[in-house]
Amino acid sequence: MEILRNKSYEEVSKEAAKIITKVIQENPKAILGLATGSTPLGLYNELIKEFNEGILDFSEVRTFNLDEYIGLTPEHEQSYRFFMENNLFKHINLKIENCQVPSGVEVDYDKYCDEYEKMIDAAGGMDLLILGVGENGHIAFNEPNTRLGSATHIIDLTEDTIKVNSRFFRSEVEVPRQAITMGMGTIMKAKKIVLLLTGKNKSHVLNRLLNEKFITAEFPVSFLMMHRDVTVIFDEEACGEI
Ligand code: F6R
Repeated sequence: MEILRNKSYEEVSKEAAKIITKVIQENPKAILGLATGSTPLGLYNELIKEFNEGILDFSEVRTFNLDEYIGLTPEHEQSYRFFMENNLFKHINLKIENCQVPSGVEVDYDKYCDEYEKMIDAAGGMDLLILGVGENGHIAFNEPNTRLGSATHIIDLTEDTIKVNSRFFRSEVEVPRQAITMGMGTIMKAKKIVLLLTGKNKSHVLNRLLNEKFITAEFPVSFLMMHRDVTVIFDEEACGEI
């Protein structure tokens, strides 16, 4: 694991943008895996800036998002498709057909999860995957006690995650109880992974990851210790307990 400590959230975002820029400049057809949530917002703003300055061209890039709430249509303001459209896709020159966000409104999920997995494989796999991490150590929506080899699947969100994510909804009851998520197996197949970890509320996660060095399904982010190319970028606020 490469560990990059930065002063602020802004610096973390810039550092992550540098890595994505290098990947795209070396391979204009790069396949990216993308996360939603508060953490990557600064990174997406950096990418938009670089696009506007003519530094980055996304015309041949393809993206696969990690997850989506079950039951939310792409037009729903809290759906991850809506988030990606508004915070990244519509501001850069990614082709719409090249941006995949798992669908939250399928009828046959066994079939759909299999297709999503096959789409990633057919594209050649993810060259670079951007991850955030939940306060309980989840990555994508692989909640504690997840299986290491899992492919894209449907998961029941934990009460903790529902509570944390309710900040984006009018009330806790509106938060969907299930999500579709890339599995740990899907994530581990990415050639390169960048994990962003920022803010005081993630300091216990960083502390546990860097100091405990213990791989356990009960703390899914710890599986990343088994990946050969992971960069963890964090800010000083997240260092609180180190
Ligand atoms: C989102 C995702 C989640 C988030 C995590 C942290 O696509 O996969 O694992 O990365 O819940 O969310 P934030 O960044 O809002 O703290």
